[in-house]
Amino acid sequence: MTYILALDQGTTSSRAIVFDADMQVVAVGQEEFAQHFPASGWVEHAPEDLWQTTLRSARRALDKAGLSASDIVGIGITNQRETTLLWDAETGQCLHNAIVWQDRRTAAMCDALRARGLEDTIRARTGLLLDPYFSATKLAWLLDNVPGARERAKAGTLRFGTVDSFLIWRLTGGAVHATDATNAARTMLYDIHAGAWSAEICAALDIPMTLLPQVHDCASDFGVSDVLGAPIPILGVAGDQQAATIGQACFAPGMMKSTYGTGCFALLNTGPTAVMSQNRLLTTVAYQLDGQRTYALEGAIFIAGAVVQWLRDGLKIIGSASETGPLAEAADDAQDLVMVPAFTGLGAPYWAPQARGAVFGLTRNSGPAEFARAALQSVGLQTRDLLEAMQADWPGAADTVLRVDGGMAASGWTMQFLADILGAPVDRPTVLETTALGAAWLAGMRAGIYPDQAGFAATWAAERRFTPQMPEPTRAAHYARWQRAVQAVLTV
Ligand code: G3P
Repeated sequence: MTYILALDQGTTSSRAIVFDADMQVVAVGQEEFAQHFPASGWVEHAPEDLWQTTLRSARRALDKAGLSASDIVGIGITNQRETTLLWDAETGQCLHNAIVWQDRRTAAMCDALRARGLEDTIRARTGLLLDPYFSATKLAWLLDNVPGARERAKAGTLRFGTVDSFLIWRLTGGAVHATDATNAARTMLYDIHAGAWSAEICAALDIPMTLLPQVHDCASDFGVSDVLGAPIPILGVAGDQQAATIGQACFAPGMMKSTYGTGCFALLNTGPTAVMSQNRLLTTVAYQLDGQRTYALEGAIFIAGAVVQWLRDGLKIIGSASETGPLAEAADDAQDLVMVPAFTGLGAPYWAPQARGAVFGLTRNSGPAEFARAALQSVGLQTRDLLEAMQADWPGAADTVLRVDGGMAASGWTMQFLADILGAPVDRPTVLETTALGAAWLAGMRAGIYPDQAGFAATWAAERRFTPQMPEPTRAAHYARWQRAVQAVLTV
């Protein structure tokens, strides 16, 4: 038998999943690690935590599967994107904690770059908005703030990487400094049209290009790892949202996936065309195979599953997430609560970091059931905002079917409302481990044990399709009310 090991290094936990030759999950290892908040708006991870939890998860998954490293034909890596590490090439030790994608410490630096007139260049080259979310200003911050870092960088003794690069470096014992095109596309240093690091942006941010990893296709040779007891080639790499897009087999232009975790990330495949958004979505690389880049429009919502956590931990009106759907179902139809969960501002397409949440339409009869319904509906309504923006940006989004995954996709009530408010079908796949599956497929395809793109797409199957049931006038009225609520939140 031949197996693939997918390593999924996420924001709150590291996971390792063993897949068999039929792309079925055999065993999972998982470990959470500490989040560090050294100042308001700062978020860090200890690099050794990222590494050790990944390693332990991999060993655990192999143990559970009753396998050894020699049974594994290839490793696929997928990862939290944008999170930034800087390490010494000699020792492999990081100079500082990883600066996590959520970290806002470089907001002023972004303002300064904007004042220098760099926003248009950055948008045109990278497809991204000038925002602290991406790696570039985080790396510049490390070079500016870690004593001696800039001199060491100029001397060529340091290496920069997103989490995938750091894991590849550690897995290969420092032999390989590489990343893939999807992770490179999130650094704000990569020209997504040229498929190369942008010398212009690196110069503008005073980032020595010797720090940067080599960029490969998503299915490629990323070196050989010996750390699990036998040599295993690393054959696949993709950022986690792109890996989910691959795992959902969204290979044709117009196909879209949405992953509902704490937040929600929606990616729309736009094929070989990098569509520049007029509606504040991101243009990014969906995947790169055989040197061919496929692009995507991406929208991010900050609060999706987090609104259910708030019902449970903040309001304490539910004991567990699974109670939310049945509670929402029991809500009074005569009431019309609208909740805008802008707890940490609003993401795409508004990008309003200062906005805060609100609930409209409260009466004396409003209670837990109405709050639960409004909370779940807010996830669908925010997704509609993303789909509207995508359809305005690109006609190819007109007839999309949304493929969903992530924890919230388990809620039938939420997925039905999503289909209703989008006015589009929503497909929930049989395999919900789509992120890991995407990374595994890249590696397994490269190893020659998994089917090619068309063959893999043919294996994708929906466990359930949610078809819109809501009459159009109701849908229109509901969405118009949401839009007014968002406007109120933006102007308060
Ligand atoms: O862009 C950030 C994203 O990649 C993080 O995903 O699943 O680790 O929260 P996740």
